[in-house]
Amino acid sequence: MLNRRRLSRWCCAVSGGALVAVLCGAALAGPVDAQAAAKQPAPAGSPAPARQLGATPPMGWNDWYAFGCNLTEQLVEQTADTIVSSGMKAAGYDYVNLDDCWLSHERDAQGDLQADPTKFPHGIKAVADYVHARGLKLGIYEDVGTATCAGYPGSFGHVQQDANTFASWGIDFAKIDWCNVPFDQFPNLTQKQVAIKLYTQYSKALKATGRQIFFSVCEWDPTLEPWTWAPAIANMWRTNGDYGDTWAQILANLDQEAPLASAAGPGHWNDPDILQVGLGGMSTGEDRAHFSAWSMLAAPLLAGNDLRSMSAATKAILTNREVIAIDQDRFGAEATRLSHTNDADVWIRTLANGDRAVMLLNRSDSARSISTTAHAAGLPRSSAYAVRDLWAHETFESGGTIASSVPADSAVLYRVSAIHGGSAHPPLTDVAASVKAPAAFPGSTYHIVKPGQTVTATAVFRNDGTVPVRRLSMHLYGPSGWKVDHPSITAAVVPPGRSVSGSWPITVPAGTKAGSYEVNAFARYRWSGTRPAATSGQGGVLVEVPPTGSPYLSDLTWLAATNGYGPVLLDENYYGGPIAIHGVTYAKGLWTNADASIDYYLGDSCTRFTADLGLDDSDRGTGTVVYQVFTDGTKVYDSGVVTNSTPTIHVDQNVSGANILQVVVTDAGDGVTYDNADFAAPQLTCAG
Ligand code: GLA
Repeated sequence: MLNRRRLSRWCCAVSGGALVAVLCGAALAGPVDAQAAAKQPAPAGSPAPARQLGATPPMGWNDWYAFGCNLTEQLVEQTADTIVSSGMKAAGYDYVNLDDCWLSHERDAQGDLQADPTKFPHGIKAVADYVHARGLKLGIYEDVGTATCAGYPGSFGHVQQDANTFASWGIDFAKIDWCNVPFDQFPNLTQKQVAIKLYTQYSKALKATGRQIFFSVCEWDPTLEPWTWAPAIANMWRTNGDYGDTWAQILANLDQEAPLASAAGPGHWNDPDILQVGLGGMSTGEDRAHFSAWSMLAAPLLAGNDLRSMSAATKAILTNREVIAIDQDRFGAEATRLSHTNDADVWIRTLANGDRAVMLLNRSDSARSISTTAHAAGLPRSSAYAVRDLWAHETFESGGTIASSVPADSAVLYRVSAIHGGSAHPPLTDVAASVKAPAAFPGSTYHIVKPGQTVTATAVFRNDGTVPVRRLSMHLYGPSGWKVDHPSITAAVVPPGRSVSGSWPITVPAGTKAGSYEVNAFARYRWSGTRPAATSGQGGVLVEVPPTGSPYLSDLTWLAATNGYGPVLLDENYYGGPIAIHGVTYAKGLWTNADASIDYYLGDSCTRFTADLGLDDSDRGTGTVVYQVFTDGTKVYDSGVVTNSTPTIHVDQNVSGANILQVVVTDAGDGVTYDNADFAAPQLTCAG
């Protein structure tokens, strides 16, 4: 890890062995850089008594990710109006939450908090009145430390006074952060003990006001395990640090919360953080999957986008009542993960009426057919199940298999119930399509096709329903311009529980650009004599073009890259300056921070790899790394331990015959601090 980070980003810096959030720079205008269900435990705590605070997860809005410190009275009031006019209020959203920076830098003469007079000229009480008049509630932000994360007065030493202020303003929700905590005042306590002490004090202070104030613990350091102590004192608590609107970060927060389901229940919820839906960093499919996942987690649904300008697609996601009903299910049992691989998850949530919500999550960047069964989901034995697709708003009938072809980076969310007696729903069917491409080397996870090659696509249609499917015909379509040889596959009858498969030779046209492509299989059929039905599925194929000439790695598109701190950077160091080792600067290079690994496709077209290796001059310290080079999974170069004082190493490696080049930096076994390692002037010699 770096010792410090670029300005105007959030920082989690290591200090005295403990994670401390510090604000680096003030530019915060933009968004800031996740067993069987049959055995699923009952939610912690007893069923919610009537009108319990937080009986179901809170729903509302928070300004932080869209506006940072640029919140104003006008923004908050316009947002409240939009919550009403957009239908969000009717869908259940009622909290309008102010985050950091609403305050004045000084307390008043009595030591009371006061609003920033420019941002909130009429004060917070007036905003609360405005919001309450629309049937909504107002949330506020403070910190247990001496200052908020953005440097405004914290509540330390003023806890009861601040709680009283909030109550007098009519505040309904308090998010209390974990920055600038004076640990030195608690020499005999661990950080976790300090957190328990300070948050318990805040909880008591809010209760002592006599006003019902929802208590949100924003202790963002997961090593202090707030889910083990906050349920007793708070209505929700963070399960992770701050995140952003990328698919990888959604998955990370989801994964982080996977083992924590038993901590949540009516009145007290795990909080994987404010929603990223509509912030612009993700596709509609990713935003839907994110919203599906948060609903499965019984997460607070706090929209983080600018509601005033949201697109129709964003609004449709945030107001999907069938998905919200999963989040708000009154049984309050958070979903558990039934199965998990790098590519696909199955999550199950037990609902109050005995139904199960089933999320089939495709984590990967190509379509996958994902399946489970009603039995594995914990449903009682039955001859048939109703499978409600909560995004398509359609219901199908299944004999027990719950499966779907799920597009890349997305999720299918079903509500499944046992059917007693017959139903008129169409059968649940699935088409699983795939393209058989050769492995880049024996055992490689890369299956790559070059332009001009012919490969085989297959599609399997399965009838998971309880009645026969008749007059099936299945076609395969390649990306535009690709030649698919074969007519359609047909079958007169596909009985329940049976499948029909077909294969199609498919030629990747010469000149196709590198990238991921999808083939689409499309099945049409009839059932019980009614109008035709259809199902489709996609299969992914990775096309790569071998490099030519003498390219620098930083000018090529990698197949995959992992880095220990932020992304691998091209032709610059972490601070935006040039790649430099021992005073020599390089126009071309890769900046990494251990542990890093970057894969490139060579396609048996290159003979040499050369580079200068050493720690980057921008952040010299006690870093130690080891550089390694692999060709087709075999290690062909190892630098030994490289430190700050190691002279620049020149590597000149034969890579003849290799399909995949992998360049690696490890932490040399001593942790990743200061491990900023460069591949300077990293160049290939290739044919053509
Ligand atoms: C921390 C919290 C965020 C936000 C900011 C405000 O980073 O985790 O949710 O409240 O502080 O400064």
